[in-house]
Amino acid sequence: MAYATKLTLIHHIAIYVLFYSICASGDDCGVRDNPDVNYFDVQLPEINVPNHLTSYVCQQFKIPTDQAYHAIAFEPIISNHHVMHHMLLFGCESDTGNMDPHLCGSQDQSCGSWLAQWTIGVEGQVCTPPQAGIRFGKNSFQYMSLQIHWNNDGTIQNQTDNSGMRIYYTTKLRQHDLGNVQIGQNDIEIPPLTPSHNTVGSCSGSCTRQMLFQPIYITRSYIHMHYLGENGTFDLYRNGQFVQRISEDLAYLYHKSPIHNHKPPVEVLPGDELRLTCGFDSYSGEKKRNTTLFFGEGSNAEMCYAFVTYYPHAIGFDQCIQFADYDVNCPSSDGRMFGGCNFYDLESSVKGHLLDDIIRACSLGVLCDKNCSQTLRELTTHPCMQGRLGVHSRRTILSNIPSWKKVIIIMDDYRDKCVV
Ligand SMILES: *[C@@H]1O[C@H](CO)[C@@H](O)[C@H](O)[C@H]1NC(C)=O
Ligand SMILES: *[C@@H]1O[C@H](CO)[C@@H](O)[C@H](O)[C@H]1NC(C)=O
Ligand SMILES: *[C@@H]1O[C@H](CO)[C@@H](O)[C@H](O)[C@H]1NC(C)=O
Ligand SMILES: *[C@@H]1O[C@H](CO)[C@@H](O)[C@H](O)[C@H]1NC(C)=O
Repeated sequence: MAYATKLTLIHHIAIYVLFYSICASGDDCGVRDNPDVNYFDVQLPEINVPNHLTSYVCQQFKIPTDQAYHAIAFEPIISNHHVMHHMLLFGCESDTGNMDPHLCGSQDQSCGSWLAQWTIGVEGQVCTPPQAGIRFGKNSFQYMSLQIHWNNDGTIQNQTDNSGMRIYYTTKLRQHDLGNVQIGQNDIEIPPLTPSHNTVGSCSGSCTRQMLFQPIYITRSYIHMHYLGENGTFDLYRNGQFVQRISEDLAYLYHKSPIHNHKPPVEVLPGDELRLTCGFDSYSGEKKRNTTLFFGEGSNAEMCYAFVTYYPHAIGFDQCIQFADYDVNCPSSDGRMFGGCNFYDLESSVKGHLLDDIIRACSLGVLCDKNCSQTLRELTTHPCMQGRLGVHSRRTILSNIPSWKKVIIIMDDYRDKCVV
């Protein structure tokens, strides 16, 4: 159950978010003429690009695994600049069974550890810090998965692509394994015509206490929003007290947001809170919107994430996200994940029988009978129907089911006529 909850959000992350990722500028990591450094390429074969504005293609690759390695630099290989929008590299512990290029799907979610990324506009290599590398091979990742986002506006026919990434690696392991963690807020609701709307998403002290067993050191951070992003700040708190600002983008621009390199790295102790605040503007100029904007992938949806690189790698510390006040990736003090809510579970019960049961048990003559109140209670006490989770469930799950409209009327009637 917890697993499914995590998957729901990983899905958002893996499929919606990382796409737009990081924007490095012209780095050269000095790896090309280093005799200790080798490379391999993960690259699509030459294939046709679908005639859709947006396609995601994924392919898994076997990588060297005979010993432990550190990947220390990533270099984009862009064969078709017209369609390449972004590219993400993930590590996988096991074979997903899909070594051919295919449209990305649920099987690719098992490659959930993001390692590197390229986005349109980025030139040159992405380097790891000198004291750390991304471990793979023996006792670590056995495969890597490449995810490519093509943007095909159809102006040129019959396009093909065989883009990919060159990965420079070494057996001379550096002192530390590098990790990447995504921090932010998955419950975003920006009212229309609002000049300044803040959204906060933390990696809470409770989560870092559960997920970290020693201090970590942040070497990079990158704040990601969409078009309404106005400013973002990423702060460190200890025992509820502000310690330092890790990074800030005070005039956020979607297409030009910077990577922040932290020298010296920022020390984070178990129990510290990493707090991201995203400022949105739905009022001014081109940002003006007359409808509410929610979390999501498209240009009419928003995000609030920080992508953070750190060492030493803490196993499992690759996402530390909130939905409203709920920590998505670690249990709360009562031991429950995500308030016990599993959106898949709610979806299958409302689609399966629950709404029909309510309509049957609450038909007019028997509205206030026990059977009606029982079935209604089954819905209203579901963990995913509480608070902000309930708001999300109504909007994204229930509103898509035709019989939900009838159930809303029944619930109103029930409240008016049956509750004393
Ligand atoms: C694109 O491919 C189709 C089918 O293979 C072919 O009929 C058409 O002539 C091609 N168009 C161009 C511009 O190459
Ligand atoms: C972000 O922008 C809003 C609106 O202009 C402003 O009120 C707020 O102080 C800014 N936040 C930071 C951290 O500068
Ligand atoms: C809302 O915005 C859209 C797009 O900018 C515009 O076409 C529409 O007329 C606006 N509606 C109202 C009620 O202002
Ligand atoms: C209430 O539900 C029970 C069990 O589903 C059913 O046997 C019974 O007939 C129902 N009562 C009414 C009044 O519908």
